[in-house]
Amino acid sequence: MPTSKTRTCGILTSGGDAPGLNAAIRGVARAAMDVYGIRVIGIENGYRGLIENRSRVLQPTEFSGILARGGTILGTSREKPFKDKNWCSGNGEPCAVGMIKETYRKLGLDCLVVLGGNGTNTTGSLLAKEGLNVIGLPKTIDNDIAETDVTFGFHTALTVATDGIDRLHSTASSHNRVMVIEVMGHKAGWLGLYSGVAGGGDVILIPEIPYRIESIAAHLEKRARDGKTFSIVIVAEGALSADEALMERKAFKKSREHMSLSIGYRVAREIEAATGIESRVTVLGYLQRGGTPVAYDRVLASQFGTAAAAMLANGDYGKMVALRDNEVVGVPLDLVAGRIKTVPAGHRMLATARDVGTCLGD
Ligand code: F6P
Repeated sequence: MPTSKTRTCGILTSGGDAPGLNAAIRGVARAAMDVYGIRVIGIENGYRGLIENRSRVLQPTEFSGILARGGTILGTSREKPFKDKNWCSGNGEPCAVGMIKETYRKLGLDCLVVLGGNGTNTTGSLLAKEGLNVIGLPKTIDNDIAETDVTFGFHTALTVATDGIDRLHSTASSHNRVMVIEVMGHKAGWLGLYSGVAGGGDVILIPEIPYRIESIAAHLEKRARDGKTFSIVIVAEGALSADEALMERKAFKKSREHMSLSIGYRVAREIEAATGIESRVTVLGYLQRGGTPVAYDRVLASQFGTAAAAMLANGDYGKMVALRDNEVVGVPLDLVAGRIKTVPAGHRMLATARDVGTCLGD
């Protein structure tokens, strides 16, 4: 057995669940235990489990049959310890952070492996600055983590969203309607853009490209004139109008407080008002995150997990596992923290969408 610089590690999953988390846990733990002889402690419910000291030593039997299972066997939460409002006197840090450091010490951890999205890896980077050894893994259906080409969970959500769009085609054509389908993605439009291209969407609205209803209406009316009797409109949940894009953040948030339904409903209403074409809305919601991961996510998560185990053995801490140009590498957590990977203006998929006749709302 190769020697390992890590004897005991903790592992947690944090933020919204994503398909592939269990495959990643299995990859880290199996390789850590079997290849490098590392003891692996599972922390329950994300960073909250570290604050409350809820953990268990993981046993090899726990990983049988979990590759194909959605969710996370460790549980998750959206706990943000550095945003804890309770400040402990004496050391001048949020109580939650102090408690995490205490649990890390009590459990005798040499390193903490955190599986999550932007918030999780940012917290991981801040904990590393506090002196903890941390390794991150990029998980999210949004695919919006900096420094990695792709995150696990994205391809499963993409498959679900594409299937949703495919299914809407038959009902849209039967009724000659506009079908609006809202997909996840608050800050980044990867899921909307990719599922829209895969499903042959006629209009795709993503947060990176503020929309003008006049452009959408003109496109839909032209389709109708060309004899196309129905249209499919994909709306990312973070889509916004050109007017909204000009607003200060505070004013924008305030204006959205009055919106009782999600953005897909507003877009459908605006389309009906501008074109007179009957429109319906489907919000895919959590279906995109649930259920069994597709093979791509299982494979990617397994590769990321086993790479993390090798980094544990080498003492290669303070990094997030990433895919760069088809190579699995470690990137400094510092470079990931606080950043969001949005769709860049010149991205080839935007050109692809436009070239197949899709309106991007601008
Ligand atoms: O971060 C993943 C994600 O699914 C986003 O696409 C979505 O906006 C958000 O989580 C939903 O968050 P919650 O699970 O807290 O409702």
